[in-house]
Amino acid sequence: MDPKLLAQRFPGDFVFGVATASFQIEGASKEDGRKPSIWDAFSNMPGRVYERHNGDVACDHYHRWEEDLDLIKDMGVQAYRFSIAWPRIIPEGTGPINEKGLDFYDKLVDGLQARGIKAFATLYHWDLPLALMGDGGWTARSTAHAFQRYTQTVIKRLGDRLDAVATFNEPWCSVILSHLLGIHAPGERNMQATLHAAHYTNLAHGLGVEAVRAEAPKLPVGIVYNAMSVVPASESAADIAAAKRAEDFHNGIFFGPVFKGEYPAGVIEALEPLMPKIEDGDMKTISQKIDWWGLNYYTPARIEDDPETPYPSHKQGAFVKPEKTDIGWEIDSSGFIGVVRTLYSTYDLPEFYITENGACYNTDIGPDGEVDDQERVDYYGDHLSVAADMIKEGFPLRGYFAWSLMDNFEWAEGYRMRFGLVHVDYETQKRTIKKSGRWYTSLAEEFPKGNHSVAAE
Ligand code: FCB
Repeated sequence: MDPKLLAQRFPGDFVFGVATASFQIEGASKEDGRKPSIWDAFSNMPGRVYERHNGDVACDHYHRWEEDLDLIKDMGVQAYRFSIAWPRIIPEGTGPINEKGLDFYDKLVDGLQARGIKAFATLYHWDLPLALMGDGGWTARSTAHAFQRYTQTVIKRLGDRLDAVATFNEPWCSVILSHLLGIHAPGERNMQATLHAAHYTNLAHGLGVEAVRAEAPKLPVGIVYNAMSVVPASESAADIAAAKRAEDFHNGIFFGPVFKGEYPAGVIEALEPLMPKIEDGDMKTISQKIDWWGLNYYTPARIEDDPETPYPSHKQGAFVKPEKTDIGWEIDSSGFIGVVRTLYSTYDLPEFYITENGACYNTDIGPDGEVDDQERVDYYGDHLSVAADMIKEGFPLRGYFAWSLMDNFEWAEGYRMRFGLVHVDYETQKRTIKKSGRWYTSLAEEFPKGNHSVAAE
C-alpha cells in the first residue's frame, strides 16, 4: 500500500509513533541501583522463557538511548511510547527512592524534547519490583498503594515534560496471563489470585490517576488495554453465550470498573466467593474520569464454548483466515475495528490511541544487508487502513504507535520473536532499519500536516 496515499486518510494532527517497554529493551538489569523485578526472577528459572533468555542486556538501550532517540528522529516519527521501570525508581517497591533511576528517565525525556519527539510514558509495563512478591505482589492490596507512591514519585520529577501518561499496560496480561494461565510472571494458575490481582490492579490505576492529577493536573492520564476482540467461533447459541462470557471476563473485568464503576454481573454471579473484599470508595476511586485510553491490537479471539472447563468455559476456535504471523497469531484486520465498535457501544469512552499494533516476522538480514520484511509492510498497510476507517466512522482516534521501534525481549518467547521496524543484532547491538521501518517513515514524515482535516477520499 502506498504510504503517501494512506497518509491522506488521517487528519493533519494525527500522531504517528513507535513503542517499546523498559524490560524488553533496557538491559543494565543490575546497574545504578536497579533491583530485580518479577521478570528477572521468572526469566532466570528454567522452563519459563524460551531458552532461559533474560533481560540482563536486551537491546542495551540503557547505554544506547541517545543513539536510539536519534533513530526515532531519523525515522520521521513524532512520538515515542516507552515505559518506566519501577525497580529503577523504588528498587524494593516501597522504601528508598533511587535518584539514579529517576536521572535516567529525566535524561531520556529531555532527549525527546530536544529532538521534538512527544513523550508518552507508561508507568507499569510488567516489571514489578520482586521485593513486593514478599507481600503477595498484585494479589495484595498494599501493592496498589505502593504503586500510587511510585506514580507520585515519577510524576513529580517528569510530569512537566510528558505529553501523556498511562498507568498500566495491558492489565489482561499482568492479571490473567500471569495469574490464571501461568504464562507470564509470576506464573500462577489460580482464579482466586487472578480476581485479587484484577481488583488491586484496577484500584492501583485509580490511585495512580489521583497521584498524577495531584502532581501534574494538566497531564493527560489514561490506561492501555489489549481488549480482546471477541468473535464467536460459530453462530450456535452455545458459542454466542461463550463469547458473552469471554467479553465479561476478559474485557468487562477491567473496562467495567474503570468506565462504569462496576464489575460485570456475569463475573460476579460466577465468581463472587473468590473475589476480594471491595472496600467502600474503591469503585469510586477506580472509575474517576480519565483523559484517554489506549488499544493494543494484534489478532482476533475466536471463542468456542467449552463446558468441560471452569468459568468462563471457552476454548480457542479455529482460525478463519489462513494468514498468520511467525508467532502463530491469525491476521484479521476486521477484528481491529470490531473491538472498537463493541467497546464504544458498551462503555462511555474518551478519545483513544492505538498504543500498539504490529506483527512478528523473524526475517533475517539478507546478503545485501537489507531486511526485506514485506509481510510486515502488508500487515501495517492493512491495519492502518482499518485505523483510517475508524476515524471515518467517527471514533475519536488521535494517534497510532507501531509495536515496536526495534526487535526486543518478547517475554516468554525470549529474543526469538521479532516485532521491530528496526532489526537488532544481539551480538553486536547493531540496529538496521527494515523495509517496514522505511515504509513507516514515508507515512509518518507526512505529519504533522497543519491542515488538521481529513482529505476527501
Ligand atoms: C503486547 C505487549 C508488548 C509486546 C507485544 C508483542 O502484549 O504489550 O510488550 O510484547 O504484545
